[in-house]
Amino acid sequence: MEADLKESLARGLTSSPKHIPTWYNYDDVGSELQFQCTTDIPDYYLCRSDRELLETKIQDIIPRVPYDVALVDLGSGNCSKTRLVIDELLARQKSLTFYPVDISEEFLLKSVKELSEEYDDSLSIQPIAANYVHGIDQLKEIEGPKIVLWFDSIINLSYDNQVETLKLISTMMTEKCRLVFSADVTQDGCAVMNAYDDPAGVMQRFISYAMVRLNKDTGSDIDMAKFTYEVNFVSNKDAQSMSYVRAYIRAKEDVRYPIPGLGIELVMEKGECLYFHEGAGFSCKYSLDQLSTIVEKAGLRLSDSVSDEHAGFCICTTA
Ligand SMILES: C[S@@+](CC[C@H](N)C(=O)[O-])C[C@H]1O[C@@H](n2cnc3c(N)ncnc32)[C@H](O)[C@@H]1O
Repeated sequence: MEADLKESLARGLTSSPKHIPTWYNYDDVGSELQFQCTTDIPDYYLCRSDRELLETKIQDIIPRVPYDVALVDLGSGNCSKTRLVIDELLARQKSLTFYPVDISEEFLLKSVKELSEEYDDSLSIQPIAANYVHGIDQLKEIEGPKIVLWFDSIINLSYDNQVETLKLISTMMTEKCRLVFSADVTQDGCAVMNAYDDPAGVMQRFISYAMVRLNKDTGSDIDMAKFTYEVNFVSNKDAQSMSYVRAYIRAKEDVRYPIPGLGIELVMEKGECLYFHEGAGFSCKYSLDQLSTIVEKAGLRLSDSVSDEHAGFCICTTA
């Protein structure tokens, strides 16, 4: 793991309140567990709604421009929804260069292998195994018009990080580029809790995998039996904010665990919480006003949006 990622992990585990950033959930095992959430939780509406919108309204979602584009996918995962976009673009232009970017390297390379077996030479795939910061640094070198996808991912960042990452994305966009990102627009708290607190515990397995990975990567021996796992939904209508899910573990007693690989100790008092996200929450839910505010704070312009009751796609141009 790069030094800056290790540093941000150590910072989160020693800050107040303590947290593990959401990106830490994604390695080859975590990515599979996330994929299981989309297939095994009957009430996990997010992925299904995104897909349904893409299947029925792709012409409205993917901007039509009078020149050929390259395709970038930030946090590409298994590229299952991206295939719909690739097919749409290959119907509009003869060939396409595709840059999937993902922090989960093995999972990215597996997805790329599957894609390259499905498509002929009209699709050229240039994978970038990196986080957004390092990936966008590389993409800035690539000239020409791009459609940049960012599906199902802005929702997992803190409010400030959403704005900062959008700003970063804008540094690789010219007036011929378009950003298309998806966001959860549901305001139905019951639907959210059904998705994030499923009775079979599939979501809990994915979310708390961060602790399993921490023990595996750093030589720590944190005993999860010393904690309770809790999840809840916070609704927020303020235009400068958003609604979100909070997921955390709470110490049942005072604990102290050395984390050798990070050179720190995890010290928690009885009742103290460790959050599985930066900032107030993750899996954020927005009104259109809340989304426009975030986009404007990043210096981008919301040029269009397409939504149903759960999912929404925002189409952004440079301001
Ligand atoms: C919720 S999944 C979404 C996958 C896909 N875009 C979709 O809509 O199905 C989030 C993806 O972003 C990747 N990811 C998370 N944090 C990241 C970061 N900071 N930089 C790059 N990729 C990241 C994860 O590995 C994962 O594949």
